[in-house]
Amino acid sequence: MQHSVSSSQTHIKWIALMLTNTATRYGALARFFHWSIALLILTDLALGVIGDRTPRTADTVAWLQTLYSAHKTIGITVLLLAVLRIIWAVTQPRPVPLHPERRAETLAAEVVHWALYGAIIIMPLSGWVMHASESGFAPIWWPLGQGLPFVPKSEAVAHAAGAVHSLAAWVIYATVAAHIGGALKHQIIDKDATLARMSHGRAAGNPEAHHGRAAPIVAAGLWLVVLGVALVTGDQAHDTTVTPVASPAQIASSVTGANWTVDTGNIRFQVAQMGANVEGEFADWSAQIAYEDQTGNGSVTVVIDTTTLTLGSVTDNAKGAEFFNVAAYSTATFEADIARTDGAHLATGTLTLAGVTVPVTLPFELAIEGDVATMSGEVVLDRRDFAMGTGYADESTVGFGVTVVVTLTATRAD
Ligand code: HEM
Ligand code: HEM
Repeated sequence: MQHSVSSSQTHIKWIALMLTNTATRYGALARFFHWSIALLILTDLALGVIGDRTPRTADTVAWLQTLYSAHKTIGITVLLLAVLRIIWAVTQPRPVPLHPERRAETLAAEVVHWALYGAIIIMPLSGWVMHASESGFAPIWWPLGQGLPFVPKSEAVAHAAGAVHSLAAWVIYATVAAHIGGALKHQIIDKDATLARMSHGRAAGNPEAHHGRAAPIVAAGLWLVVLGVALVTGDQAHDTTVTPVASPAQIASSVTGANWTVDTGNIRFQVAQMGANVEGEFADWSAQIAYEDQTGNGSVTVVIDTTTLTLGSVTDNAKGAEFFNVAAYSTATFEADIARTDGAHLATGTLTLAGVTVPVTLPFELAIEGDVATMSGEVVLDRRDFAMGTGYADESTVGFGVTVVVTLTATRAD
């Protein structure tokens, strides 16, 4: 009995020793935080860069939505881990520098460490403030709501946070590159235990060595400058929306072409309701299409009977005065000119919905075989442009972005 108590005590002590740091080694918990956050940060950097480089078109909207939702969810995970990491780190000794005699190198490495500590808070927090303050469309994948207390829906706040996020990304690029470069240098050139301390928890270094005091001050100064620059220059337009540009028709509208009769087709739309997507549809609509496949020019007029709208369990709400207001406006009309450039088609014109006319450009794909044409297109509208759901000022109940998907087949009539 005596024996088993003391052996389980030994066991607990041993586990505690594994988890905690000493002056010469990183414990398992510090290493867990280091590598999990490193992996997630590198993933999020990649997603951020890919997202930034993906052109905003109707074709990429769905993919961008998934990409940014993943980016945001991973980023928030980083933030939660970072808070735990910092709480843990302040209770722990920091392993001493391995080469304190190389003062400049040690200072540089430690400035980078402190700057990275700043980054794992500033980067996700600025992203989250940007997300919470704007009509962002890609939700964080969690059930805890999309907003942040004390963060208003405001363009100015979104711009400032976006500017911090973008500039802080550059700090991360530079510091992570220096950090990984340094780790490789220690491994390959110095052949010392720097990497093994972090990867295997090996003990190394002279426990009497000291950390310099300047490093945290230099890193904090660096972040203050970056935040200052971002906030001062942050008023510049920082467009984070993914709505394709809607411009008025600039194409001559006196287009003639063969007439096409619609055989089958759907006009569907998707909107986020309480964070989940709901699908809606208009059962009754008609289209007049003129299109010349030689030139790729044409025109289209679509008239939609809005009283035939269905939207899951909220059809009645959607038809009500707050939204489509079908009692007052029983038709919606899309009038546009069709033009082809480099094989891609655009229908550029106006959409009149609930009494409001807004310029809309619908990119679409078209395949013609013999006399049969198959078309599909997608555009993201913003319900606020049509003064819909003004009582739902944020996106917690009804999203701002409404993805409209049009598909049809038509036969050449003459
Ligand atoms: C580990 C944390 C994060 C890292 C390393 C990171 C990194 C990046 C990078 C490199 C970009 C592209 C750079 C640019 O737009 O100039 C970006 C864009 C973006 N990030 Fe993050 N991010 C993080 C967390 C978050 C979080 C938590 C959110 C929101 C909840 C978020 C929202 C966004 C948005 C909306 C954009 C697009 C901004 C734009 O196009 O201007 N990020 N992020
Ligand atoms: C492949 C990527 C990475 C490698 C090989 C690596 C390697 C290392 C090594 C060897 C150390 C120990 C340095 C020493 O004892 O003096 C360390 C510490 C550290 N690394 Fe990384 N690292 C990587 C990515 C990252 C990333 C992305 C971050 C961003 C947050 C980061 C943040 C830190 C911090 C803050 C420390 C100081 C130790 C601590 O307090 O946890 N590392 N890293």
